[in-house]
Amino acid sequence: MIKKYTYGTPFETEAVVVDIKAESTPEYGTVSCENGFCFEYQMEKQDTVFGLGESNRGINKRGYLYISNCTDDPEHMEHKVSLYGAHNFIVVSGKKSFGLFVDYPATVCFDIGYTHSDILKITCDDDNLNLYVIEGESAYVIVKQFRRLIGKSYIPPKFAFGYAQSRWGYVTKEDYREVVREYQKYHIPLDMIYMDIDYMQDFKDFTLNQQNFNDFTEFVKEMKQNHIRLIPIIDAGVKIEKGYSVYEEGVKNNYFCKREDGSDFVGAVWPNDTHFPDVLNKEARKWFGSHYKVLTEQGIEGFWNDMNEPAIFYTPEGIQKLKGNMKEFIDKEPTKEDVWAMRDELRYLSNNPSDYKIFYHHVDGKKIRHDKVHNLYGYNMTRAAAEGLEEIENHKRYLLFSRSSYIGMHRYGGIWTGDNMSWWSHLLLNIKMMPSLNMCGFLYVGADLGGFGADTTRELLFRWLAFGIFTPLMRNHSAGGTRRQECYQFERTEEFKNLIDVRYRLIPYLYSEYMKAALQDDMYFKPLAFVYPEDEIAREIEDQLLIGNEIMIAPVYTQNAKGRCVYLPEQMMMLKFLGNGTIAVDTLEKGYHYVNVDLNEVVLFVRKGCCIPVAEAAECVEKINTKNMVLYGYSESEYFLYEDDGVTKEYQKDCKVLKKG
Ligand code: NOJ
Repeated sequence: MIKKYTYGTPFETEAVVVDIKAESTPEYGTVSCENGFCFEYQMEKQDTVFGLGESNRGINKRGYLYISNCTDDPEHMEHKVSLYGAHNFIVVSGKKSFGLFVDYPATVCFDIGYTHSDILKITCDDDNLNLYVIEGESAYVIVKQFRRLIGKSYIPPKFAFGYAQSRWGYVTKEDYREVVREYQKYHIPLDMIYMDIDYMQDFKDFTLNQQNFNDFTEFVKEMKQNHIRLIPIIDAGVKIEKGYSVYEEGVKNNYFCKREDGSDFVGAVWPNDTHFPDVLNKEARKWFGSHYKVLTEQGIEGFWNDMNEPAIFYTPEGIQKLKGNMKEFIDKEPTKEDVWAMRDELRYLSNNPSDYKIFYHHVDGKKIRHDKVHNLYGYNMTRAAAEGLEEIENHKRYLLFSRSSYIGMHRYGGIWTGDNMSWWSHLLLNIKMMPSLNMCGFLYVGADLGGFGADTTRELLFRWLAFGIFTPLMRNHSAGGTRRQECYQFERTEEFKNLIDVRYRLIPYLYSEYMKAALQDDMYFKPLAFVYPEDEIAREIEDQLLIGNEIMIAPVYTQNAKGRCVYLPEQMMMLKFLGNGTIAVDTLEKGYHYVNVDLNEVVLFVRKGCCIPVAEAAECVEKINTKNMVLYGYSESEYFLYEDDGVTKEYQKDCKVLKKG
């Protein structure tokens, strides 16, 4: 049962796809609209709070503060309250269970027992919003209802389930060829190489560096002959440069965001000064989306949209203010307070909240200040791309994901979780974030495996890849200036082969479960609490996850660990993919077990009464043979395999039944 409550005059976010008549007062909690919007609910001691998609901390969100405010923050330590996405959906689960979706495009604060341990308080600056309250007998049931409310999740092409290598710093063709060569040398499967900003001419969207990629179509072909797809990045900011057609067209047609006085707003990003396409405006969105064709015409089949919070390094207005204050600073004998203030001023020049208040969108004849709809920018940039790609070939699936997002964007693309660090704690954060993202509709998700910032280690990369085997997006990406982290940069490279082979052996199962989740509004990753709600121990477990309907994983996420303690809520069959390519099988009873997991091993647990298909290793997704798969798991069990062409949008209604003898 879903109820809608409308306050004031909400901005139409298009997050929801079902029309529901608004009612008057919610039965849960109290609402006040005196000073902005405020929802308060007295939580019971045992209540758990799930949700918030891409946000910090655990699966159970109780006990901290989270602020939905899409932010480019590459240093997201544990205390950070805002990350790149804004996913305003939570489920309170306890004696009374209900879900809340706050459909509001600006900043929303979720104080979940942070100020007062038993009070859930949700506040927004103004009271123009839709609140959805969803009732159901369990958290899982509530999530499934919510997912129907927000529409079907994005489905990528099947090749997007392959392993991908990325690095901010590949510049020439030779850099890409080297990646292919090295992976081939060790027979490590690889399906994609990502192209970061250096492929562009002076960081201009929809251009190619003239010197390095003058015959790009040929190069794309060459890569495809090696079964590799190139996936270029597209940034939100359009470089200001006379003669650059995207800039010229945008200015001429008023497609960029404007200042109060009607001039085009300027924000600096990688190309220095840029304008931001007004992707909230239908015409501008169509125009921006139509440019992806420049690259699809050259054979490109996927994109990642970046810097779309939008990230702003600085604005002329910010610099002006800074200069004034610096002048004052230089002219006086500064105190330590002055020095700190100056330091902060420099530091907060980037992504400064005051800059988001000086530009406007034009939507349906209305002028809307950006900060009022800030969280919709990345969503609409990715929607622009998806709609543009659909125009090009409407039956074909493209790979598409974004850094910034809002609920609703899950229908257009996936997300990666931005600039993490090569920290063990960020591997754990990656594990915990996945089911929360699935709750909010984002199924094609993954983090930068190995960590983006800081130097990784061989061990961290191994453990992170071993978890990444199960994330739909499996991409090793890192920042320039950090230690190189392609598998072949480390000793005993051949050991990585065994690990990544496991991904390919499991793709038929993982893809099948992904597709079932997408087509049935279900979760691909589930917390144990959703499936074993009666089991007190399982309810609290945050470092083990269920995938699809058949398996549980318990990733190793600590340095020097030889294995880990795993809790089994029921008897399960443990499959250990060993370093030599064989699989060891053992039945373990309900309860705690210490499980040894060597660096190049992958362990998963098949749930009681289930089985999963395992294929032979293959060098790329296209070459996976689903005809000679072996079923692992309980005898007399069945598996419903979903298969399709992986390319078109002709999704199948029926699954193939595989029976284990
Ligand atoms: C920020 C993105 O989060 C990162 O993945 C990318 O490498 C850099 N921008 C450079 O494009």
